[in-house]
Amino acid sequence: MKKILISQMEELAKTKAPSLSTLSNLLAALFWSEEHINWAGLYLRDPKESGCWLGPFQGKAACFFIPEGKGVISACLEKNKPLLVEDVLTFKGHIACDSASRSEAVLPLYTPEGEIFGVLDLDSDQEGFFRPEDLSILIQIAEMIQTFALSLRL
Ligand code: SME
Repeated sequence: MKKILISQMEELAKTKAPSLSTLSNLLAALFWSEEHINWAGLYLRDPKESGCWLGPFQGKAACFFIPEGKGVISACLEKNKPLLVEDVLTFKGHIACDSASRSEAVLPLYTPEGEIFGVLDLDSDQEGFFRPEDLSILIQIAEMIQTFALSLRL
């Protein structure tokens, strides 16, 4: 992941636009920043439905709902920390929304009170695309995105 993406996203975040408009552009910048990112978007936790609903994203149409306990998304919620999945084919319970996806990064999105209200999900068509050294950039990206996604909280 390239550091310059952070400054590009910070520029977009300065715009006085409705949160959803800024969020949409942040996700577009993220998706188009790397040739090998094939999906970038949010899943929003719905405590009443015990799972997560698809939120704004860039990429191919994806699963509408991830039930609690299933997939990489739920693993991120359960562990309450970012996860990098080097090879989705070896991750037990991985939900394949796009068969082209080979690796994945998921990061929790928090309310100001510290409650997880969603997950930022990035997919790549390359195995091992998201590397441990990308984590600090990914965390900065997730923090920026969570600010503009707060209003979508279910
Ligand atoms: N792979 C995810 C599902 C969401 S898609 O990647 C967009 C999972 O296993 O939870």
